[in-house]
Amino acid sequence: METVLSHVEPVALVCDALILPVATGDGPLIDQLPVGLPAGLRDGIAMLAKEGGFAAKAGSTIVVPTLGLAPAARVVLAGTGKPGRSAADRVSRAYGAAARAARDAGAKSVVLSVEEIPDSDVASAIAGALMGCYDYTAYHGTGRRNGTSIKRIEQVTVAGSGATQSAIDRGRAVAGAVNLARDLVNEPAATLTPASFAERSKAVANAAGLGIEVLDATALEAIGANAILGVGKGSANPPCMIRMSYRPKDGGDGRVVGLVGKCITFDTGGYSIKTHDGMLEMKGDMAGGAAVLAVMSVLPALGCPVAVDATICAAENMISGEAFRPSDILTAMNGVTIEIISTDAEGRLVLADGLVDAARRGATELIDLATLTGAIVVALGDGATGLFSSSDDLADNLLAASGRVGERMWRMPLFEELEEKIKGDVGDIKNSGGRAGGSITAALFLQRFREGLPWAHLDIAGSSRFERANALGPKGGSGVGVRTLLSYLLVEAI
Ligand code: BES
Ligand code: MN
Ligand code: ZN
Repeated sequence: METVLSHVEPVALVCDALILPVATGDGPLIDQLPVGLPAGLRDGIAMLAKEGGFAAKAGSTIVVPTLGLAPAARVVLAGTGKPGRSAADRVSRAYGAAARAARDAGAKSVVLSVEEIPDSDVASAIAGALMGCYDYTAYHGTGRRNGTSIKRIEQVTVAGSGATQSAIDRGRAVAGAVNLARDLVNEPAATLTPASFAERSKAVANAAGLGIEVLDATALEAIGANAILGVGKGSANPPCMIRMSYRPKDGGDGRVVGLVGKCITFDTGGYSIKTHDGMLEMKGDMAGGAAVLAVMSVLPALGCPVAVDATICAAENMISGEAFRPSDILTAMNGVTIEIISTDAEGRLVLADGLVDAARRGATELIDLATLTGAIVVALGDGATGLFSSSDDLADNLLAASGRVGERMWRMPLFEELEEKIKGDVGDIKNSGGRAGGSITAALFLQRFREGLPWAHLDIAGSSRFERANALGPKGGSGVGVRTLLSYLLVEAI
């Protein structure tokens, strides 16, 4: 999709659909429609909106054909709602929903009017449109799906007083990163193995100018990363650890954020095997790694001011004569011995080595992202991320970032009373504390590997996939975490 900048008045541009933002409670809707539209058309749109009960709620849209009365074949109203949630969130949802509606109506060329949008939110409007129109079509080579041709917007023109090339570049970078994470989550595990994930990471690193080093199984043995090795043993696709690094041009101020991603390319549960239903979505158990890679991919383009080291812990949790078993003991990189209660609690094992590796490489704070527990879905429902942190400052800053971009996040406790549940019998620590407080005991486990650093853990098991299509994209990988982390690192709305 091509994105172009225009300094022409939005209503004067010829296109298949003109997207106009409208807010709730800003007076009669007609007063928010551009005066450049012919009076009769303005009246007609306002009348249709009223009859259709359109209240300009955030993410609500209405598509109105202009019947030859304007250069645009259709007008799509994009409801931005009323102040409450952050402006960047409301604006991105509004443009996402409107762009989807325009696409579904058959529009190939779309004009985004950002006339009434504050300059600081224009990039969010563009990102919203590009995320909303995301579609996973890699396996629809014919261009058709279920007998109908796949609809695509080919050209997006950004017009209006706040339209700038830098807003376009920023919006494209952010949406590009989110959509990259989605592509990876949506890709089946037969082609997205630990090794192929590493190859994709190398391509990303080379294109973006990032440092990269991939530790294969032999290299992992050399550093004593036996926890990730144990998880990967049952698979014909060997595990690997992907180290990436970004340094700001001025070198930064000594702070190094260590991002650690769980990247289980498929989770069968191992010998603690999952049920049929439980296994179905497990190609997406690498969403934490995907988000980390996606964030790294745009740090140079966005001019991130802080240094970031990434560690992606890639393995496939399979069954074979070589697989690890319940009751096995794995010795992690920092010497902690882990008693395997469940081979299905594999995420915390790969992260144990990843956190220690990130700390030893020089991170000054650690943030891990992981589709870690089903229990977080029970606690917070679909669509919310559980945040656990050893540091109130780090937690507050992550919550502020998630609020700016509109990714739901909720802080969870690290009750020390629950430590009891993961005390080992024959090893130092057990990898499962049972059902009660399952997300908390998982986080308490991870905390043993933070090596004294401020640490935060984002459990994205409930938020890494959209269960249904919405303003920001279709059912499937959501790319969650990417915008929150970018907003955290840049300390601004994105
Ligand atoms: N990958 C799963 C968690 C998960 C569940 C992600 C649902 C996405 C949707 C993780 O590896 C897992 O299996 N966790 C177990 C832990 C238990 C054995 C202690 C779980 O949540 O049941
Ligand atoms: Mn598992
Ligand atoms: Zn898993």
